[in-house]
Amino acid sequence: MELERESRSAAHWTAEQYAQALPAGSQQPRPERIAWVAEEGLEGQPRVASKAAEIMAFLIARRIDLEWELENVVVAARVRRRGLGSLLIKNLVQDAGRLPRATIFLEVRESNRAARALYEGLGFEETGARKNYYANPLEDAILYRLNVH
Ligand SMILES: CC(C)(COP(=O)(O)OP(=O)(O)OC[C@H]1O[C@@H](n2cnc3c(N)ncnc32)[C@H](O)[C@@H]1OP(=O)(O)O)[C@@H](O)C(=O)NCCC(=O)NCCS
Repeated sequence: MELERESRSAAHWTAEQYAQALPAGSQQPRPERIAWVAEEGLEGQPRVASKAAEIMAFLIARRIDLEWELENVVVAARVRRRGLGSLLIKNLVQDAGRLPRATIFLEVRESNRAARALYEGLGFEETGARKNYYANPLEDAILYRLNVH
């Protein structure tokens, strides 16, 4: 949450929303929501891990049937532009690719040039917009889709 709070353009959830989204001890064979965290590696290199000592980045996504929604991706300001955001999203694409004809959807603030450049660079296509979707400040959402196969 600390990492998310320092990123104004990230999606902001309460502690309760995170707890509800990621219940502890879920026994489902295939979770409908995943969270990946990138932590500082032994040699200072980023790697993807399930539990973080020092969190550098995280991604949260949920799946309904063949459709994934990328709900949030945040990289700590001090380690941006080092490929961590790309690494996490490529991980999601790889995981989604286990199902045939999977699709990943997401929405992003129109003004979020960094995130939009990241998504477009990974092959996401702009599919539309939602007028005044975000509050504080009021702003349109731009919708993106990636067909995994
Ligand atoms: C968007 C965000 C996740 C990108 O993470 P990152 O680890 O810095 O991204 P990467 O290093 O993988 O960048 C990959 C490519 O995305 C584009 N990109 C990333 N940040 C950019 C920026 N500030 N300006 C322009 N392009 C940018 C570039 O094309 C970059 O490739 P390059 O570095 O070779 O030029 C990060 O800036 C962030 O956490 N922002 C705040 C939270 C947020 O807005 N999340 C999105 C919510 S929808």
